[in-house]
Amino acid sequence: MPLCFNSTTKEPYLRLAAPHSHIIITPHRSDPIADGIPARIEILNHPAVYMCLEGPPYPHLQEHAESWCNGKRDEMQEVVESLVCEFQEPSRNGEKARIFDKCPFTCIREVTEESSDGDPLTDVFIGDIGLVRYSFYEFRSGSDERQAARDRNNAIPGGDENIVWQFGDYLAPSHHGRGIMTGVIRSVIHDWAVPRMNVRDIRASAFVGNQGSLKVFLKNNFEETCTLEDWAPVSESRGGGTRSIVVVKWRGMN
Ligand SMILES: CC(C)(COP(=O)(O)OP(=O)(O)OC[C@H]1O[C@@H](n2cnc3c(N)ncnc32)[C@H](O)[C@@H]1OP(=O)(O)O)[C@@H](O)C(=O)NCCC(=O)NCCS
Repeated sequence: MPLCFNSTTKEPYLRLAAPHSHIIITPHRSDPIADGIPARIEILNHPAVYMCLEGPPYPHLQEHAESWCNGKRDEMQEVVESLVCEFQEPSRNGEKARIFDKCPFTCIREVTEESSDGDPLTDVFIGDIGLVRYSFYEFRSGSDERQAARDRNNAIPGGDENIVWQFGDYLAPSHHGRGIMTGVIRSVIHDWAVPRMNVRDIRASAFVGNQGSLKVFLKNNFEETCTLEDWAPVSESRGGGTRSIVVVKWRGMN
């Protein structure tokens, strides 16, 4: 599905293709309830989710969720405003589409009610997808090499094909195993990252044994590049120690 615009709420969004067309991916919203902060906290405190993730703090508290959502909303504000103008100013039609340096479509939501025109009216937050500049997992966490590689990558101007990107994602356990994240990754790549960010190089990583996550990427034309044994430090609240990770790389449009 192409990029969509909700003419009722003035929100740009991505909609998954059938059979998942009730799933949309939106930017953050200013109202905490509409944004889905309570659902986000519940999901990130579920062991089927937090034990698979390196990043978000666990236990995940209200202040963590608010700070994350406010930060992302501010970071994406300019992109979202520009997209709203694109949809609202028909005179711009025919202009070459602007290339952006960010993906504002991060909140995965299940639509529960639609207008007669098909605009989503109510929905429930069910997960998160992030496409950000790569962390260079191949270098040890905290190492100078990792920082130098990140600095080089971060310094490349937006829209350049040489930027290396990475995905991070999670979904509510109530919705696992229905093909949703496979469709989400596909939509973000095809409907936004390639046409509107000029993305060509995407990586991701998963803890060894996270078959669901690996399969989602393999089904989207990623391939395994390496397994790094005892590599990722795990927070004490998640049991401590280190976990082995598998790194995958996108092979391009299929
Ligand atoms: C990983 C995750 C995002 C997958 O999302 P999902 O929507 O459930 O995945 P899909 O339904 O698109 O599944 C894709 C494939 O993986 C399989 N799969 C899903 N979960 C699986 C599991 N726990 N074990 C084995 N296979 C699994 C599906 O059966 C499907 O394969 P198929 O098409 O051959 O049937 C989700 O399970 C999740 O949020 N897990 C916790 C957080 C996490 O691991 N995030 C990724 C960190 S790297």
